[in-house]
Amino acid sequence: MGDRGPTRYILPTLRKSPPDKIVSKQDSQFFNIFSVVIGLLSVLALVLLTIARNVGTSSQLAHLQTDSSYVAGVEQRIKPLARVAVAGEDNSALAIEAPTGSADTGGGGGAAALPTDGKGLYDMACTACHGLGIGGAPKSGDKGAWAPRLAQGKATLYKHAIEGFQGKDGVMPAKGGRTDASDDLVKLSVDYMIELNQ
Ligand code: HEC
Repeated sequence: MGDRGPTRYILPTLRKSPPDKIVSKQDSQFFNIFSVVIGLLSVLALVLLTIARNVGTSSQLAHLQTDSSYVAGVEQRIKPLARVAVAGEDNSALAIEAPTGSADTGGGGGAAALPTDGKGLYDMACTACHGLGIGGAPKSGDKGAWAPRLAQGKATLYKHAIEGFQGKDGVMPAKGGRTDASDDLVKLSVDYMIELNQ
């Protein structure tokens, strides 16, 4: 009897307040539906995210890899620092490119300003190959290597130095790569080279 006492008091209280019960029933119904809707929306969001990622990875990468400016940039960054001319093979692709931006614009680019005498140009543009005889270049001071070349006459040497020359030993790039140098300056540097062989 003593245990039932409180129960009796509580139950009648609940029964006496039907409006509270109705509201809480509506609330729980609302929360049930609300949770289901939220759950479905979350699943939908995940599905859309997955689809978008799949579509993005396959199509974006393909698009990037065929983008010419992107590909050119990559090739520019991974191109080898140095290339070697091999005697007896076609080395025409190895001609030294004029430094960008300096060819016709008066040396506004990164290339160093041109000297005014033959020795200056020789030191700047020719000694890289001719100083040590790199890539088949006849070494300055090596009389044996130069004798047959000198025998061709100065006019031919000037022409080959100015226009470039593919001989049997390798590639002589036009003006030693300094296409911004004047023909006369290149002639002076050829004269200086000839002096070195005497
Ligand atoms: C990238 C390397 C390289 C540079 C830089 C270079 N040369 Fe040469 N040069 C060569 C090679 C290689 C030959 C030999 C080609 C052959 O006979 O097969 C050569 C040959 C020559 C010859 C002889 C041509 C002939 O008819 O036999 C002259 C003259 C000459 N170079 C002048 C110059 C001058 C002047 C410069 C600088 C303005 C210069 N070179 C810079 C590689 C170079």
